Amino acid sequence: MVEDGYVDIVNVDISSVVIEAMQKKYHDVCQLKYVRTDVRDMSEFESESFDAVVDKGTLDSLMCGHDSQQNSFKMLEEVGRVLKDGGVYILITYGDPSFRLDLLRGTCLWTVNLHVIDRTEKSSEHQSWELTRTVPLNEDGSFSLSVLGPNPEIHYIYVCVKDASLKQKLRENGADINAQN
Ligand SMILES: C[S@@+](CC[C@H](N)C(=O)[O-])C[C@H]1O[C@@H](n2cnc3c(N)ncnc32)[C@H](O)[C@@H]1O
Repeated sequence: MVEDGYVDIVNVDISSVVIEAMQKKYHDVCQLKYVRTDVRDMSEFESESFDAVVDKGTLDSLMCGHDSQQNSFKMLEEVGRVLKDGGVYILITYGDPSFRLDLLRGTCLWTVNLHVIDRTEKSSEHQSWELTRTVPLNEDGSFSLSVLGPNPEIHYIYVCVKDASLKQKLRENGADINAQN
């Protein structure tokens, strides 16, 4: 990202060992900041202060721990809070849509597109799926692995755009239902 010109990048991890090691490794790269924090409570960051959040393996790690649903939900709420409206949460994960889409939908904040990338480097003609092409989802939001060809070895990338109006609509609909009862 630094090589691509990004100048204000905040890296977080709950582990002080990770943070100290990364600070040491990249001490001469002034565009990178490191903050030890818990993604379930990032109160040191202001609401709507980030344009993008990139997550490679952090949600996965919460989903492998105890109280996984509750902790993942807390993380997604916090990611949604710190992102600007229209900002992007890029989730790079082992989790296929049957394990991730409902979770993302549960926060009622995102429009989601699915992309995939091969786990090992392949020549362009042997790629399972072109990275920039959205993988189609079925009408019910489910997904057929078969569209990617036989035995794909892939990571999933969910490109989630924050749309605060979705939550607002949900609140209004909830208010309508309550008013009718
Ligand atoms: C699978 S590793 C991925 C690390 C790195 N993103 C990468 O791709 O190499 C998951 C990381 O999430 C961190 N982590 C786990 N729970 C966390 C939490 N609640 N808040 C912040 N970081 C957490 C772990 O310390 C670990 O460094």
